[in-house]
Amino acid sequence: MASPRSKAPVLATARDPAKTCPLCPRLVAFRREAELRLPGAHNGPVPSFGQSNARLLIVGLAPGLNGANRTGRPFTGDYAGDLLYATLKKFKFAKGEYRADPDDGLTLIDCMITNAVRCVPPENKPTGAEIVTCRQFLGTTLSSLPKLKAIVALGRIAHDSTVRALGGSPSKHVFGHAKAHEIGGIKLFDSYHCSRYNTNTGRLTTPMFEDVFTLARKAVDS
Ligand code: URA
Repeated sequence: MASPRSKAPVLATARDPAKTCPLCPRLVAFRREAELRLPGAHNGPVPSFGQSNARLLIVGLAPGLNGANRTGRPFTGDYAGDLLYATLKKFKFAKGEYRADPDDGLTLIDCMITNAVRCVPPENKPTGAEIVTCRQFLGTTLSSLPKLKAIVALGRIAHDSTVRALGGSPSKHVFGHAKAHEIGGIKLFDSYHCSRYNTNTGRLTTPMFEDVFTLARKAVDS
């Protein structure tokens, strides 16, 4: 299949923003503060992780301060990574040991993980403008995956930004847990975000999360 042509405004050419990306002033300022609080940590836009021939893309929200922002790998060191990586291993989209350390040797299989917003936002809440600005990198990520068949969006923000990056309209493709959409030949599956809040409150259980990956596995293998 040809690369999904993103409809996100194309300003970026690279799949990932530069480490010194200046596009969102509030996030740049927060990164600078984080450098003082967490010296030696990644403290920059977190690049996508995985394989360029991936048939499955996972889209998260944004790095956590002490997780992906610290380690430089999506979901790595974040509470949400425990369930995500365990599930990816269960569904054979990852192999090796996940240890919340980018040098753990864990590899993804046929899969890539990215975030709708690449820099850690204050209180885990990116603004609308930051989501729009960073969408160009979601666009270049989509265009860089020639074999892409399916996407799992974690949460409504990731869903809406992915729908727009694919050229769809969130009013026609409304977010719902375990809902399936198709845009431009790509299957999009939604999940509640695997955040600590959602799993601790029971909004998202492990079986509910696995239901979504059952759909994604079927779509990738079809
Ligand atoms: N860590 C990430 O990289 N993304 C999320 O959405 C949450 C935690």
